[in-house]
Amino acid sequence: MSGIRSVVRGIGSYLPERILSNADLACRVETSDDWIVQRTGIRQRHIAAEGEYTSHLALKAAERALADAGFAARDIDLIVLATATPDQTFPATAVTVQAELGITRGAAFDLQAVCSGFVFALATADAHLKTGAFQRALVIGAETFSRILDWEDRGTCVLFGDGAGAMIIEAVQVDDAKGAGLITHHLRSDGRHRSKLYVDGGPSTTGTAGHLRMEGREVFKHAVGMITDVIVDAFAATGESADSIAWFVPHQANRRIIDASAQKLGIAPEKVVITVDLHGNTSAASIPLALDVAVKDGRVKRGDLVLLEAMGGGFTWGSALIRW
Ligand code: ACO
Repeated sequence: MSGIRSVVRGIGSYLPERILSNADLACRVETSDDWIVQRTGIRQRHIAAEGEYTSHLALKAAERALADAGFAARDIDLIVLATATPDQTFPATAVTVQAELGITRGAAFDLQAVCSGFVFALATADAHLKTGAFQRALVIGAETFSRILDWEDRGTCVLFGDGAGAMIIEAVQVDDAKGAGLITHHLRSDGRHRSKLYVDGGPSTTGTAGHLRMEGREVFKHAVGMITDVIVDAFAATGESADSIAWFVPHQANRRIIDASAQKLGIAPEKVVITVDLHGNTSAASIPLALDVAVKDGRVKRGDLVLLEAMGGGFTWGSALIRW
């Protein structure tokens, strides 16, 4: 089947220097390393320094992805940046990254799908490349969730962290359906669940950034079903299966959600990439952060079939299948 395919050319990520361990958190709220590790698998998270913004994290991840691809910034003509924690209400954090990279052509915009942001951004960039209007896209997930956490609420503040990841995809004319590139993506949302995970502020309501609020049990209850449904859709659309994928790189929210999803789908535990222990839930940044680790340590190789999935506030959820 001939047509345009989005092929991955590079990946990069960045975590802020400061590490906040579970023990550190136990000094601030009534919790313990044992409780956090048992319920979530998280051992530590990174926190942006004062004056360090989402755009700064995004820029560092983007520069690393460019270096990995061997591209100059001027090669990029599209930036799609997924974030729920932009530097400002507007302009988009993507245009700050664009300016910092010295790019003056093409388009740059933000996309908001909370923890599903990276999968939504990848699918959006892919759709734009397929029109032929753009050639090379920088897809970024970047967050500073530490800025919207209620640090008194032990039910949420232990779960999240700051970070950024970036991927570069290029439009390539292909004749072979089996070739490298993004094979399929499936996006979903259901706004009836929007009050189960939300931020209690915003420019149009309170005029403040607000704080994250979550019904943890409700999120947990829906997560595995939604994640697995959208992966079953990806398998049905492509004829691929739990056996044919080489790597499963899920949104890094919670070890129990990841394990339960993999088990329900019949994906072998050794195929699952897990980094949530190292950085907690970094929302839109978590998939490229995990993927970058698995690419750089040699697990993900050219030709491997890689399955991504995410689920988050909205609810939003989605999957993507990539031939690396
Ligand atoms: N330390 C110690 N105790 C705690 C903590 C904490 N950090 N947080 C809550 N507790 C207590 C509660 O107060 C409660 O105490 P009580 O029984 O005396 O009332 C008890 O632990 C149980 O609370 P639950 O909220 O019922 O705990 P649960 O077993 O559901 O675990 C958790 C909570 C980890 C948040 C779980 O519901 C979960 O993982 N949910 C998914 C949330 C998630 O991953 N969200 C990320 C965003 S969405 C996404 O990315 C997929």
